[in-house]
Order: sequence, then structure tokens, then C-alpha cells
Amino acid sequence: MSDWRPDSWKSRPIVQVPEYPDADAVNRVYDELTSYPPLVFAGEARNLKAQLADVAEGRAFLLQGGDCAESFAEFHPNNIRDTFRVLLQMAVVMTFAASCPVVKVGRLAGQFAKPRSSNSEVQDGVELPSYRGDIINGPNFDAESRVPDPARMLKAYSQSAATLNLLRAFAQGGYANLMSVHKWNLDFVSKSGAGEKYRELADRIGEALAFMQACGIDPDSVHQLQGTDFYTSHEALLLGYEQALTRVDSTTGDWYDTSAHLLWVGDRTRQLDGAHLEFLSGIGNPIAAKVGPTTEIDGLLKLIDKLNPKNEAGRLTLITRFGADKVEEHLPRLLRAVKAEGRKVVWSCDPMHGNTQTSQSGLKTRPFDRVLKEVKQVFACHRAEGTYAGGIHLELTGQNVTECIGGAVAITEEGLSSRYHTHCDPRLNASQSIEMAFQLAEALKEERLAMAENAAA
Ligand code: TRP
Ligand code: MN
Repeated sequence: MSDWRPDSWKSRPIVQVPEYPDADAVNRVYDELTSYPPLVFAGEARNLKAQLADVAEGRAFLLQGGDCAESFAEFHPNNIRDTFRVLLQMAVVMTFAASCPVVKVGRLAGQFAKPRSSNSEVQDGVELPSYRGDIINGPNFDAESRVPDPARMLKAYSQSAATLNLLRAFAQGGYANLMSVHKWNLDFVSKSGAGEKYRELADRIGEALAFMQACGIDPDSVHQLQGTDFYTSHEALLLGYEQALTRVDSTTGDWYDTSAHLLWVGDRTRQLDGAHLEFLSGIGNPIAAKVGPTTEIDGLLKLIDKLNPKNEAGRLTLITRFGADKVEEHLPRLLRAVKAEGRKVVWSCDPMHGNTQTSQSGLKTRPFDRVLKEVKQVFACHRAEGTYAGGIHLELTGQNVTECIGGAVAITEEGLSSRYHTHCDPRLNASQSIEMAFQLAEALKEERLAMAENAAA
């Protein structure tokens, strides 16, 4: 759009904005951020877009996952490594078991801002502003922590830069070499059922690699075996921050938001004439939008028009999140309408956000079987409509936490509190994530077989 500017969102209605007490201090931070180096390069965002175009056309699968929210307190190289490692394990399971390339996108290195259902929170009769994520204010329930502090944006930037730096090193520096497929399994996960299953699969991959090596194909001769492309993403919620990192790409003259490769708009901020869609509509990055039970056909088509007017494959991913019991009611009509209108999108499934419950002890949790049920329902709906279930969006961690109940090492309601660490939504732990990857691989394999049969018929 020709009249789009990085700040044109400012003339649109906006929701979920923090109220900073000192406007001058905020502007000083924006000026500083604007002078900082970009975190990602526009060419990388274009590569991701091209890989997502493959997903849109049924030739690859999108794996997107990470924390609900990153935090300053949990910033540690081991946490980054563990999240990266479990994503690698999941990717290799799906690549091998479903013979399908997997596009790997972390929900990290910038996932700091959280939308809230209420502007304030009451505890024991005391009312304070809601916690909006570490990039805005602090989680502790005291007045001082809850005041939005612009300096937090600078800290989020530097934490994102350091995280991204480590991820790049892991992805290309040897850690992700396919020859290391066994090493990614060497800790608490290896003792779980999922770890056992993973070991068997890794054995088979090892055999295949040894065979290829004997034929003269190894990481020295074929660089694809040496490492992997790993991308970052977060919700584009705090638009002042995103604007400060939006730059003109010198090779194309287009605007890119260089805070991450992919940005998405959440369920609470996707108003058609609102600020968030306006901002996303003008950046060249691949983008995504959450789609929930309140999404109507007409609204969805207008959203697609706004975000992907040229109907480019790979530009727009729709992430559906209904809740296990609502998929059948909502998803088929949306799939039908988008298909009938010939819109090219990636359909991804977020089975987490529609399946949150409060346990008897008052902790938020998500039962693994509900999460899995939503995944299966989504694959079934796509099969029935002749569309492609092309991705998964998970809240997960590489840590050995107990936040979601169920899974093979069944975590019970009583067991939740033993290692419940999230300060946001409950995440799948490493074993549950790998188990999910095996289930996904099976569903994906079936889906691809059916597609091949249809194409042949
Ligand atoms: N480069 C290929 C890919 O990313 C193969 C590969 C290398 C790989 N390391 C990996 C696949 C780790 C999954 C996980 O698909
Ligand atoms: Mn969440």
C-alpha cells in the first residue's frame, strides 16, 4: 500500500496498549532502538516466505513453537539450548517419519509482550495494572513492578539479540548436524517413553546416514546435513517497539520488521481497521494471524485481503485455535470459504489456546489428550475439505516441567505443582513435545498419502 508508513498504525484505533507515565522517556527509547542494528536480515525473511510458500502448496510442514512468553528472569543459555533441541528432535521425527521437509520457526528471541483480557488485576482487594509481559512491566504483584517501564524494551532487544546469536550458532555451527541426532536425546527425556521411541528412530536415521556415507554422501559433501535453517517469530503486539525495528531493505526498497523473521497478530488485536493489522499489512515479512471461534467468514476474507492483497503463497499463515470440541463447528466453513475464493494461505493449528483449564488446585493447565484431540480434528477437517493441514503452533519448553497434564509419563492434577514454572500459559514439556511430534508425523504421513492418491486419481 503506497500510503503505508511504519507509523501509519498510529492513526488507527488500538487496543492492548500500555500507559507509560513518561512520554519523553518512551520517545528516547524509540530513538535509541531506531539506531540499533536490525536483528534479522530482510533476505532471511524472504527465504522463510519462500519456504512457507512450499508449505502453502503442500510440499512442506511448518513447526512453530516455544514459550508462551519469554522472561528476563529465565534468560539462560541452557533454556535456549533446550528449547532449540526439542524443536530439532521434533523436526527430525517429522522429517523422517513423514518424509516431509519441516520449516522450523521458534516462538522466541522476541516473544515478550502479552495481550490481557483485563487492564487490571485484583488480589485480596488490591487493584493493580495487569502484567503485560517483561518488555512492558514486571510480573510481581506490587505497584512499582506494574508501572510500564520503557527501558524494558532495550533489555528485550538485547536479550533477543543474544538469543538469536546463540540460535544461529546452534543451527549452523555444528550442533544441528544430522550426525548428532542421538546426542539431542541425552538427558531426562531419554528415560521417558518418548525418549525411547526417539532413540529407535535415531538408530534408523543413523543407519541411513551410515549407508549414504558409504555411498559417498556425508556432511562434508552435502552441506544440508550439516545444519538447518532456523527462524524466529513473536506476536507483533507492542507496535512502538516493532516500528522502531522496521527498516527499508536496501536491496528491494521494501519495509521489513527486523525484530523477527515472522510476526503474527493475536486473536485480541486483529480488528480489521485497527492498528495491528495496519502495521502488519505494510511489512514484507511473512506474517500470521490467529483465527478463533469468533472469526466469521466475511471478516476472515477481509483480513486476508488486507494482509495478503496480492495472494502470494507464503505471505500469510492462518493459525486456527478453537478448542478440541469446537473445531468441527468452526473450521470446515472457514476452510471451504478460503478455498472457494482461491486464497493461498498456510493453515496451521494452535491446539494450545483453546484447551486451557483451571485445575482443582487453581493452576492453569492443558490436558495433553485435549491438545492432541484438537490436532486430530484439524487434520480430519482438512481431509474432508480437500485442504492441507500445513503446520502446528505449540507452546512448549525443553525443560522437564509439569504444566500440562497427561502424556505418556502421565502428569496428574496433583503432580502439576511439583515443577510448575510458567509465569504465563502452561507449556508441553520436552517428552510431551516429542510424543506430539510422533503423533503429528503419523497424521502428516496419512495426509500426504491421501494427497498423493488424489493426485494420481
Ligand atoms: N538441513 C535439513 C533440514 O533442515 C536436514 C537437517 C540437518 C535437519 N539438521 C537437522 C533436520 C536437524 C531436522 C533437524 O531439514
Ligand atoms: Mn499463550
